[in-house]
Amino acid sequence: MKAIVLVDENWGIGNGGDQIIYLPGDLKYFRETTMGHPVILGRKTLATFPGGRPLTGRRNLILSRNPQFSPEGAQVFSGLDALLAAAPEDAFVIGGASVYAALLDRCDTAYVTKVHRTFPADCHFPDLDRNPAWQAAEEGPMQEENGIQFHRVTYFKLFKDKKA
Ligand SMILES: NC(=O)c1ccc[n+]([C@@H]2O[C@H](COP(=O)([O-])OP(=O)(O)OC[C@H]3O[C@@H](n4cnc5c(N)ncnc54)[C@H](OP(=O)(O)O)[C@@H]3O)[C@@H](O)[C@H]2O)c1
Repeated sequence: MKAIVLVDENWGIGNGGDQIIYLPGDLKYFRETTMGHPVILGRKTLATFPGGRPLTGRRNLILSRNPQFSPEGAQVFSGLDALLAAAPEDAFVIGGASVYAALLDRCDTAYVTKVHRTFPADCHFPDLDRNPAWQAAEEGPMQEENGIQFHRVTYFKLFKDKKA
């Protein structure tokens, strides 16, 4: 399982129920990287997508404890055990904060877009630079969009860390 996320310099990912920032080039990268693979997400992250609709071209596995919640074109799971039993190994964990926190321990790779700025944020991704179980292995070139600088870092898990 792999995680994919966009973070600011403090590993902030969202604020007020929405992502800290959307960068068109990063959205394209996200789409290309996840296309054809199952995606795992929380109910609140689904609500941030256009029309609250699941992502096309990908099997959407959504976590929600609400038995009435059944968006068209997605599978809803009421708990992690049921989700993990159904999730293929090539699935991407795509957020939000509660789902990253719950499933990072199951991931072996994290594709992180690092934005070189800080934004107001009320939820975060775990800081992989401070976690010895993870190592930054591949760094992409610096990029800039709309005056915002960012680059991509691929982290690999070196060993299983119960705290991750
Ligand atoms: N920067 C990025 O790359 C990125 C990516 C994704 C999301 N985000 C941001 O992250 C924020 C959302 O994160 P969040 O943590 O508030 O919400 P979330 O993880 O997207 O969704 C939380 C919801 O998922 C369900 N859920 C979570 N764990 C569950 C479990 N173990 N069993 C059953 N259901 C479970 C619950 O739904 P019910 O309430 O329906 O029971 C819960 O309220 C937003 O600001 C979003 O924009 C950022």
